[in-house]
Amino acid sequence: MRAISIRVGAPGASLVQVPEPRRRGGEVLLRTLYTGICGTDRGLVRNQLPFARPPPGSESLIIGHEALARVEDVDSGAKIRKGTLVVPMVRRPGKCLNCLIGRQDNCSDGDFVEAGIRGLDGFMRDYFTDDPTYLVRVEDESLGMLAVLTEPLKNIVKAYEVYDLVSRRALTNCRDGSRSCLTVTIAGAGPIGMLFAMIFVSNGMDVKMFSRHDPEGFLSETASKIGAEYFLREDRSKPIPQSDVFVDTTGNPGVVVDGVRALRPNGVAILFGTDPSGSEPVSGQDIIDVVEKNVTIIGTVDGAKEHYIKALSYLSSWKNSYPGVLESMITAVVPPEEAIPILMEKPAGEIKSVIRWE
Ligand code: BGC
Ligand code: ZN
Ligand code: ZN
Repeated sequence: MRAISIRVGAPGASLVQVPEPRRRGGEVLLRTLYTGICGTDRGLVRNQLPFARPPPGSESLIIGHEALARVEDVDSGAKIRKGTLVVPMVRRPGKCLNCLIGRQDNCSDGDFVEAGIRGLDGFMRDYFTDDPTYLVRVEDESLGMLAVLTEPLKNIVKAYEVYDLVSRRALTNCRDGSRSCLTVTIAGAGPIGMLFAMIFVSNGMDVKMFSRHDPEGFLSETASKIGAEYFLREDRSKPIPQSDVFVDTTGNPGVVVDGVRALRPNGVAILFGTDPSGSEPVSGQDIIDVVEKNVTIIGTVDGAKEHYIKALSYLSSWKNSYPGVLESMITAVVPPEEAIPILMEKPAGEIKSVIRWE
């Protein structure tokens, strides 16, 4: 069967032939239907992620952590049925207390593995086996390929939950009790930026988003379909509007500093993007402003099973409330044979590229 693998420590990726996996006790066999490509995959392929590591005893790693799969074979008496559509979870627990209660997304000692990223083979292959504990059932089968957005969206569902928790530290609601008077500014208009925009709009907030390029006006068009306002910010000379929430999906330190400076009192910055290059000086006045304005800066990664489940219900509701929008965010669907160049270099105008396996 086919698999896309990398040699950890060297740039590049290749489509290779590997033996079909064998089910061990309690595991199920899965047929991969679709895998999404994200910035983490490109970081792996370019050898830019310091935490990348192959499974123990191997030099190569099968990548891919955004997937939709179908259960192909199970033990007799298994709780999960053949034919069920599932989204596999990325992160698998270590031994700390958070991991032991299914909150490996908040692991406290780093002793976890992540499929397709660190210590465990991922899902860019025709078949894989897995423990049903880490499979999230897709009840709404009409989602089809859109269910591949569950994995990236679960990160955002968790980020929104953390935002919701910290926003209770002061009264930030509006006179009608809602959050409709609060403004959110999002840096970056890739899939993560768009999904953040959808979740904040769905929760009644006023959303603006920006990026440096907008090929053929496609991003502004998509943003307006979501109900968000898009603006171009080619460089830092353009101010970021004053906001109550700033979300960074770029990882660019200059963008983050500008976004935090634009926060109002009781403002919250949500940092999600990562990029090891670049640096930015922070002044004493910046620290005074963060302190004096009660600003909270949130760093957030991954998500728990409950966030995958909520992500699936958001997708089902958005499929109806924003007809055609999620579909238009999948800007390319290619067979594995055509995936390597897309993994190496992001195509112009991409929101989400997907590999079709079946
Ligand atoms: C995944 C997360 C993962 C993170 C860091 C992201 O692309 O969505 O689940 O924790 O990469 O490895
Ligand atoms: Zn990812
Ligand atoms: Zn842990």
